[in-house]
Amino acid sequence: MTDAEIASIARTGAGGVSPGFGVYVHWPFCLSKCPYCDFNSHVRHAAIDETRFVRAFQSEIAHAAARVPGRTVSSIFFGGGTPSLMAPETVGAILDAIARHWSIAPDVEVTLEANPTSVEAQKFRGYRAAGINRVSLGVQSLDDAALAQLGRLHSAREALDAVAVARDTFARFSFDLIYARPEQTPDAWRGELRRALEQEPEHLSLYQLTIESDTPFATLYAAGKLPIPDHDAARALYEITQEITAAHGLPPYEVSNHARHGAECRHNLVYWRCGEYAGVGPGAHGRLDVDGRRHATATEKHPERWLIRVESRGHGLVVDEALSREERGDELLLMGLRLAEGIDPEKFAEVAGRPIDPARIAEFANSGSW
Ligand SMILES: C[S@@+](CC[C@H](N)C(=O)[O-])C[C@H]1O[C@@H](n2cnc3c(N)ncnc32)[C@H](O)[C@@H]1O
Ligand code: SF4
Repeated sequence: MTDAEIASIARTGAGGVSPGFGVYVHWPFCLSKCPYCDFNSHVRHAAIDETRFVRAFQSEIAHAAARVPGRTVSSIFFGGGTPSLMAPETVGAILDAIARHWSIAPDVEVTLEANPTSVEAQKFRGYRAAGINRVSLGVQSLDDAALAQLGRLHSAREALDAVAVARDTFARFSFDLIYARPEQTPDAWRGELRRALEQEPEHLSLYQLTIESDTPFATLYAAGKLPIPDHDAARALYEITQEITAAHGLPPYEVSNHARHGAECRHNLVYWRCGEYAGVGPGAHGRLDVDGRRHATATEKHPERWLIRVESRGHGLVVDEALSREERGDELLLMGLRLAEGIDPEKFAEVAGRPIDPARIAEFANSGSW
């Protein structure tokens, strides 16, 4: 089988179901840095020159489209950082650039991550007019003391109000909660999760708190000042999560993501099914099929250095590596292990050129790398 045939199988899936083609847009700024977060997010005290950023996004989109022309975009995701700090006009200009270079599927999913403050909720109608049809809100907790501990700038009331505005404004919405927080009891989590489900979301992302290195939470944890649940207690909280969400018709389709049937986040499924996606903006990752080879791409992380790089070269790429069949097989395993639907053995064999090795699965499962 030729490399081009392998690339096309990966795009369409062995069973003929296409994971789609996604575009990820990274907005790297936040109003403040949450003490648990290691995302590529930066705080700036001066105003951001959004016009300059739009021009750079337009260049990167044109560059990616020249490498992978003729695709039909099935999902677009504005992630961050805090994309809800962008002006709706900025979002609209980036969407226009995507539509100028690729075809857009009639049922395209266009998601924007938003922080649930009243200021941001006021911009929701503008985002809808710009073309956003789904929002994902970072609620994190419905407990004010926990929100303060997480360094969040909103209260539980404000978050619920933003959820209500999202429900009235967009066809689809989701929100995120973080559990296994310091001193969180099973009963407290049950109550919080039930209140979240009362909002009748079609989709919820429920993440266990992870202590990321080089964050203030990592320092507190190392000093014994962050009493998070141990492995067994966290597992019990995970099981409570599965039980309650399934009882409310929101079973997990991925380790931390729950949805009503048909309301799964299509963009994230592109990643987990190892589909093709372009990543634009500072620190964005992509997977592109160029000349019959799957390429892993990444851009410069630092926002202003990314701008300068794009302005001088037309793109901010710092990584652009063709993956071997071995590496592609490992990616399919690592991503597929996250999904309730699992891994299609036929697709695996066609892409990786070898059957699935149970020992390799055990290795990944035990390493915790997924
Ligand atoms: C890029 S952030 C979301 C966007 C937005 N800036 C916000 O904070 O609401 C994506 C999500 O990852 C989750 N997250 C970030 N750091 C985490 C950590 N250390 N442990 C668990 N979840 C985390 C949060 O739920 C967050 O909403
Ligand atoms: S959690 Fe969200 S708001 Fe907080 S620093 Fe990370 S990206 Fe920014």
